[in-house]
Amino acid sequence: MLDVVDLLEQIVGIGKDRTGGYRRFALTDTERELAEWFDATAASLGLSVECDRNGNRWAWWGNPADGDAIVTGSHLDSVPRGGAFDGPLGVASGFAAIASMKDRGVQPVRPIALACFTDEEGGRFGLACLGSRLMTGVVEPTRVLGLRDDDGITLAEAMHAQGRDPHLVGADQARLADINTFVELHVEQGRALIDTEHAVGVGTRIWPHGRWRCDITGRADHAGTARMVDRDDPMLTLAALIDAAHVQAGRIDSPNRPARATIGRVQITPNAINAIPAVVTAWLDARAGDEQTLTALVDDIARSCGVSLLAESSTPEQTFDRPLAGHLSGLLASAPLMDTGAGHDAGVLSDAGVRTAMLFVRNPTGVSHAPEESAEESDCRAGVEALERVLVDLSLTRT
Ligand code: GLV
Ligand code: MN
Ligand code: MN
Repeated sequence: MLDVVDLLEQIVGIGKDRTGGYRRFALTDTERELAEWFDATAASLGLSVECDRNGNRWAWWGNPADGDAIVTGSHLDSVPRGGAFDGPLGVASGFAAIASMKDRGVQPVRPIALACFTDEEGGRFGLACLGSRLMTGVVEPTRVLGLRDDDGITLAEAMHAQGRDPHLVGADQARLADINTFVELHVEQGRALIDTEHAVGVGTRIWPHGRWRCDITGRADHAGTARMVDRDDPMLTLAALIDAAHVQAGRIDSPNRPARATIGRVQITPNAINAIPAVVTAWLDARAGDEQTLTALVDDIARSCGVSLLAESSTPEQTFDRPLAGHLSGLLASAPLMDTGAGHDAGVLSDAGVRTAMLFVRNPTGVSHAPEESAEESDCRAGVEALERVLVDLSLTRT
């Protein structure tokens, strides 16, 4: 028997930074170490492993060529200073659920796979859900291969450095056609389950969300000699932008009409204590419960501080299969149905026409994308039990 808590413990030291958070970026030696763990764990269960053209890993129980597969999985990469559960909980739970099914002698009538999507967070190159977006063909490979990390390394160069062929990336319709249903288990990233008796919830939809870039140009000068009245300091516009994001989203955000806006990343040139910056680039992450609210929110932020916001990625509402969500909620003792403001590969697959569901495991801190992200051991095990029940249900019947 493989225990999900033990599995997570096996990778607890990989990619941990000095702050206690994780830095598990795509196309790094850390990703390679995690991939080795994935491959070894799959091998110990007798699963065959494959890395697809886009860098996503698949562990197969049964023959992929039979098609009609039930796929579970998530990702192993993290945001900078990320938590231990966002992604890895889904992968480890998938292994534990498959191990338990094998131990109990379950004989699926269709292949089961555990997928580990690459670069879900976009922590290095800025585009979230890179592996699933490439696989489903919703991003143009040539554009994506030119994205640069903070050191100016392009995605194509990073792929070369890790022995991968960038010419091979792109839509993989054959793989998509093989998938009957995708179920992603994920740590809950908010507080919806905290005060309930439920360790597990069922996802219904992902709010519309996106990332916008703002380039603010000023005039570089000496911090000591430039008179205050003579300055053109782009940091003042940045301050106004940060304030506008907080105020405009805060005006709207409520349980019935969620709206969130964050400036979480800035680049300052030249970034010297004693120089007025020449240029500042900031990234706005904005999300809302509906498209109209999101569009109005981003417009209001831009207008109120007089900046232009350039959409770098934007994702409309993504809904999971309604009948399936209802069925799974019933199967799991009336598990609560819940929507989420976080993006997931499951949303990308759903948009591509795959029947998709998500399970969320309670997070006692309600915090995510930070080291405080958490899940009780008993809830992790309840998540595995739920996932196993779902996989058995889906893999024993042909629909
Ligand atoms: C991914 O976790 C996102 O929602 O940004
Ligand atoms: Mn995340
Ligand atoms: Mn995630």
